[in-house]
Amino acid sequence: STVQVPAVDTAANVQAVPSVSKEVTVLFGSQTGNAQGLSKKLAQQLTSQGFDVTLSSMGDYKPNNLKKVQNLLVLVSTQGEGDPPDNAIPFYEFLHSKRAPQLADAKYAVLGLGDTSYEFFCQTAKDFDKRLEELGAERIVARADCDVDFEEQAAEWIDQVLSSLGQAQSSATVAGAAAVSGTTDTTEAAAESPYSRTRPFPAEVLENLNLNGRGSSRETRHVELSLEGSGLQYEPGDSLGVYPENHPLLVDELIQAMEWDGNESIVINKNGDHLSVRDALLRHYEISVLTKPLLEKVAGLADHEQLYDLLEEGREQDLRNYLYGRDLLDLVQDYSLKGIPADEFLSLLRKMPSRLYSISSSMQAAPDEVHLTVRKVEYEQHGRQRYGVCSVHLAERLEAGDTLPVYIQHNENFKLPHDASTPIIMIGPGTGVAPFRAFMMEREETGAEGKSWLFFGDQHFATDFLYQTEWQRWLKDGVLTRMDVAFSRDTDQKVYVQHRMMERSRELYEWIQEGAIVYVCGDEKNMANDVHLTLEKILVQEGNLSQEAAAEYMSNMLQQKRYQRDVY
Ligand code: 2AM
Repeated sequence: STVQVPAVDTAANVQAVPSVSKEVTVLFGSQTGNAQGLSKKLAQQLTSQGFDVTLSSMGDYKPNNLKKVQNLLVLVSTQGEGDPPDNAIPFYEFLHSKRAPQLADAKYAVLGLGDTSYEFFCQTAKDFDKRLEELGAERIVARADCDVDFEEQAAEWIDQVLSSLGQAQSSATVAGAAAVSGTTDTTEAAAESPYSRTRPFPAEVLENLNLNGRGSSRETRHVELSLEGSGLQYEPGDSLGVYPENHPLLVDELIQAMEWDGNESIVINKNGDHLSVRDALLRHYEISVLTKPLLEKVAGLADHEQLYDLLEEGREQDLRNYLYGRDLLDLVQDYSLKGIPADEFLSLLRKMPSRLYSISSSMQAAPDEVHLTVRKVEYEQHGRQRYGVCSVHLAERLEAGDTLPVYIQHNENFKLPHDASTPIIMIGPGTGVAPFRAFMMEREETGAEGKSWLFFGDQHFATDFLYQTEWQRWLKDGVLTRMDVAFSRDTDQKVYVQHRMMERSRELYEWIQEGAIVYVCGDEKNMANDVHLTLEKILVQEGNLSQEAAAEYMSNMLQQKRYQRDVY
């Protein structure tokens, strides 16, 4: 391998740089796996350039090692309200506490992954960047804050980091490539597939059923896709990335409102690929979400007084209110934007982002297949019917024989225990039950002997008990040890999964004491938080712990991966 030759840099040439260690630590905080994937790539490149690389999840990293770190690269995503990913929280808190060491001898760089449709875009990356500077470390490359379509910007940041570290390396020659230490790598097999996030596999639809009974207020699709010939592999707990199509009604209304010609051919990327305006709006661009950066670009393109006003300092709350729940059609109607040529306007849009769904099947049990469990999202807002882009595509416009562009997103944070005798507790109301179907299929197929306990809930027993006959069969066969269900709208008083957990607090506590892993999947805002509080309450009540001790216990469980969450 060769050392990357840096451009001549005067500062670096003024005096001889003392021999600098080639140690690099790459730390990632990843919820869905993107930061992890990038970190792995970066670590491989650094290794091939002769660096001694430590690659680790923040969740597995011993903060004491920070004292010895010379080059620290942090790649981290941001969740909802500006929060770190679950397994990055302990490290994040350590670094922001008084216990954090001075890092005067360290160099560092930070890359953030986020979504500009959220107000606290890349907040966690910003926090790390600021804090590392405060601790005395030297920033060697400016922070990159990447939007959902992160590939290009991330690649640039990686190039900058590589060339910057290449300079620090002085004239040392590169010996054999060092091994990348750190996390175990279960993604190697799948890396052999030619299909990925940037090159999705067109999976054929084998089946597409509504799991809800007649009269339900829900529509939940069970979609079976073929992975035959793709080389794609996954494990229970992994997610499927899906590229949906926008709703044709929305696309046609948009074309009409802008007075465009839907058949006009436009260039959609730097390679010069082109699509008709209509197809580009259906498949290539995001039109269902408004972001501040988009409004800024549109204001500039249209030189639009009113839009400039909305974007003015001091009007943040008005802007927030306007962006919330509105789409591109609202924007062009509310601000009378017609008259802008399609190619110019479309070039401002974000690329259609993929959606991630927890896979509800096991490859061991259903080779060459992948199953999804997706609830249709449809509601009225701002005087118009709104459609969840992907769920409505799956529910209304996808039949057996059609294809859907997909890829596998590995999720190291939601995995069955390696030891098949470890008990598992699965809490998954609604579509949160998806990965647990995969868990059960896998445990049945592999003959795992560990105990398992499912908490499921939805509105009505008669119409909303997803995969009811499968659970009952697994119970009968002993693959599933216990099941408690909570149907919230069959009784006067709402009953939720956490109420069932509380009723079984003694046994739940015993399972946890026996080393059971607790999995929670589903709604984040309400359910996951209430379930978390309930688990704490159970520890207080059954374990005689103080509130603080219970919280500490939970945070230890999180760190030891005995408490794993896949919430959305
Ligand atoms: P609801 O719709 O009657 O409020 C799956 O969506 C199930 O989760 C439904 O039964 C839903 O009940 C329930 N649910 C809603 N909020 C919840 C919360 N905070 N905790 C647990 N379950 C909740």
